[in-house]
This record gives sequence, C-alpha cells and structure tokens, in this order.
Amino acid sequence: MGHYRIAPSILSADFARLGEEVRDVIASGADIIHFDVMDNHYVPNLTIGPMVCEAIRPHVAAPIDVHLMVKPVDSLIPMFAKAGADIITFHPEASEHIDRSLGLIREHGLKAGLVFNPATPLSYLDHVMDKIDMVLIMSVNPGFGGQSFIPHALDKIREARRRIDEYTAAHGGEIWLEVDGGVKTDNIRRIAEAGADTFVAGSAIYGTDDYKATIDTLRAELAL
Ligand code: DX5
Ligand code: ZN
Repeated sequence: MGHYRIAPSILSADFARLGEEVRDVIASGADIIHFDVMDNHYVPNLTIGPMVCEAIRPHVAAPIDVHLMVKPVDSLIPMFAKAGADIITFHPEASEHIDRSLGLIREHGLKAGLVFNPATPLSYLDHVMDKIDMVLIMSVNPGFGGQSFIPHALDKIREARRRIDEYTAAHGGEIWLEVDGGVKTDNIRRIAEAGADTFVAGSAIYGTDDYKATIDTLRAELAL
C-alpha cells in the first residue's frame, strides 16, 4: 500500500474559528478536509452546507471531501461544486438514481464516491465501479462525532478492498478506500491492515490540544 491520507472531520472543530481550524490541521500534516453535511432528515443532526464550504475554501489548498448525509442528494451537488468541493460522497439509499447522482458529481469535475453505513450492503457497488473514485465505509452509524468504532466494519473494509483491487487490476484507475467513525491512534493500524488508505478522524484530532502531535502519532502507527 502506498500513500495514506489523513482527513480530519471538521464536525469536531470549533465552528467559531473554522478558518483557523482547517488551516491548523493542514499545517499539522493532514491531507484532506472532511466536511460532514447533515440535514436532520436522512440523519438526526443538522450541520453545515455549501456556504460554509465556500467560506473555508480560501483557507486551504487541500482537497475538501464533502460527505453528504442528506436526502435528496442531487440538488446539493452543483452547489457544492460551485462552493469549491473536490470530492462528494453520498449514501446510495438516499439517492433515487445512484448512477445519475454519481454522473452528476463527475460532470461537475469532482471525484465521486458512495458511503456505506454499517448495515448497508456493498452490493450497491455492483454496477457503478466505473463511476466512482472513492468508497467510504462508515464504522459508526452516521449523525454524530465521537462514537465508538464498530469492530465488524473491519470485515467490510476487507471486502471493499477486495472489490476495489479486483476492479482496478482489470480496468486500471484509482479508487480510494476511506473509513469514517471512531478512528483513533489505537486502532488506525488495524484499519489500515484491513485495506483502508484514507482515514477520517474528527474527535481523535480536534479533541486534542496538539493537532501536530496527534497527526504525527496517527502517521507513526501507519508506518509501523
Ligand atoms: C459521523 C461523521 C463523521 C464524524 C467522525 O456521521 O460522518 O465524519 O465526524 O467523528 P469521529 O472521528 O469523532 O468518530
Ligand atoms: Zn463523515
């Protein structure tokens, strides 16, 4: 496995100082900003939208990875593209037309991905592997930061890795495998061993005083 990516989730950042908070994690060695969008409909919480994406965009050059926990999906895609997002992922069961939503994301020049809740089957990937750049495995039920990693997500990560490798070996291209929920310094290595290459960490990073020390520790675990 080549390069690992650390993606702090700003859900656990101080929203009153968001520009500074995104700059700090990138300056501390993170690779991607993970941006959680919740609508109080698909998930029981309400967070941030395209206007906030647009507001943080000038603060970092790093990719902004928009995780849509919303229903419906499609109307937000052009808005986030305009707001400077680089990656958009959505939950397949929240879209009426998965193929169309994926196509819409790519038509806007962004990377597209599907997100799998702990009980959502990976069979949603069956007919769309050619349209995705990222698979995101949830290791908690979506809606809140600070929850505990669900251990059986490791099996799902292995299965997603197998599907991705099989597809890219036959067709080329690159598909990232991201894991979101309860990722900490004490489990990131096991998650990487299961096949993940991109790690969302909200409370594990923003819940500590020294972001650089935490990100260094996460990377050290990955290097072992
Ligand atoms: C949960 C969100 C996550 C969340 C992760 O629904 O999708 O991105 O911020 O938070 P931690 O890392 O604290 O579990
Ligand atoms: Zn997320």
